[in-house]
Amino acid sequence: MSRDYALIPKLVRHVETPYRRIVTDFPVPESLPILQKLRAYEPIAMRGQPPVVWDRAEGFQVYDAWGNQWIDWSSGVLIANAGHGRREIVEAIAGQAAGRLLTNYCFPSEIRSRLVEKLAMLLPEPLKKVFLLTTGSETVECAIKLCRSHGLKAGGREKHIIVSFDKAFHGRTLGSQQAGGIAALKEWIVNLDPGFVQVPFPDGFRTADSSFDAFERALCQHDVDPQNVAGVISETYQGGSAAFAPAAYMQALRQWCTKHQALLVCDEVQAGFGRTGKLWGFEHYGIVPDLALFGKGMSSSLPISAVAGRSDVMDLQPAGSMTSTHTGNPVCCAAALASIELIVQENLAENAHRLGATLHERLHALQSAFPEIGDVAGKGLVAGVACVTPGKKDPDGDLAWDIVQRCIEKGVLMFSPVGFGGATVKISPPLVIHSAALLEGLSVLEEAFAETLSQRAAVA
Ligand SMILES: Cc1ncc(COP(=O)(O)O)c(C=O)c1O
Repeated sequence: MSRDYALIPKLVRHVETPYRRIVTDFPVPESLPILQKLRAYEPIAMRGQPPVVWDRAEGFQVYDAWGNQWIDWSSGVLIANAGHGRREIVEAIAGQAAGRLLTNYCFPSEIRSRLVEKLAMLLPEPLKKVFLLTTGSETVECAIKLCRSHGLKAGGREKHIIVSFDKAFHGRTLGSQQAGGIAALKEWIVNLDPGFVQVPFPDGFRTADSSFDAFERALCQHDVDPQNVAGVISETYQGGSAAFAPAAYMQALRQWCTKHQALLVCDEVQAGFGRTGKLWGFEHYGIVPDLALFGKGMSSSLPISAVAGRSDVMDLQPAGSMTSTHTGNPVCCAAALASIELIVQENLAENAHRLGATLHERLHALQSAFPEIGDVAGKGLVAGVACVTPGKKDPDGDLAWDIVQRCIEKGVLMFSPVGFGGATVKISPPLVIHSAALLEGLSVLEEAFAETLSQRAAVA
């Protein structure tokens, strides 16, 4: 949300456990020159995250240069699935760089061939062709292009509508932002493409009706003829809340897309690579989309993303018409191959599933204790804790903000609140986190709620 952190160091209680170490004021006084330089030379829009200056990160911990150490509940922003700074990934990057192939554009390379093959082998039928890109937003742009190309071929110019969901986030480029479902983020576009339509996301909390009928009703209200839909794009779970749709809804949507020759696109940029307790998030629904989009956790490190899809769809564009300067950059490919190897070999999806059970059980217990928690969503090692006014669903962004700040001051690192009203505290540790560290983090979160709310009660 559009809030800013004050750069005024404040005294915080020191903490020393095997996992956490807080030994300075916060923000760290010695870090202020760095923070001020960033404020001087970067746009205001870059200021959204807590003023922790990362020095190094290893496994599930983040360190600054002044002796502080956090249990990381951010994974950057759900990037470091295989853990931060893993030796195997560092060595793969260093080895590739030492071999002096740092870039090769779309010219063939052996390492790119290995990565696309690896992804195709891990993905189910029919997701057997893979196009590598750099960011998640680019994969969404590519999906829009493929949906519209497919629509043009299947139904002519009328078949161009892209349906997506309210409150969705798909990135910040022109197309991906229009596929998004957050009106405030789209104001700058001014003349929105009417070919992008959003329908309610069936989260069962902010949208009570999670039946598939609601999807068809919403299209009707938007005056959309199903025959004119080129594609339906959905995050596998909504990033802003961590909410999943009911499996029955997604299965009905799968059938609906097939019936109407619309492509179903799962944006797995957050959900992929084990995060949700399965290798691919869409497995929770018992469906396979026509296109799946990956990013973030794919390399646990360097920027790389991928569109995987049905061969006939991926081959719609002629040779030379889906390129990108850094597609399949060899150093990024090396990082991705090493990260995927770790995720598969160490069965990190299973770890996310096992520890996720503890995480969600404790969060639901916390919800029972505090009426200020309206909803707990997510699966595996991703959770969203929605802060609300007790007895209502009104988002309480101030509470979420205070909880995140307090957790950081106690040595548990999270990114700023996300989602509706900026009121969701999002939990997404690296998938290599140990049970003891997860439990310690949960105790910190519980303390943060208890202390923040008793302080509120005292001043009321
Ligand atoms: C579901 C989803 N799709 C797409 C994106 C955009 O990815 P990127 O920031 O790499 O462009 C994000 C980023 O948060 C995301 O969560």
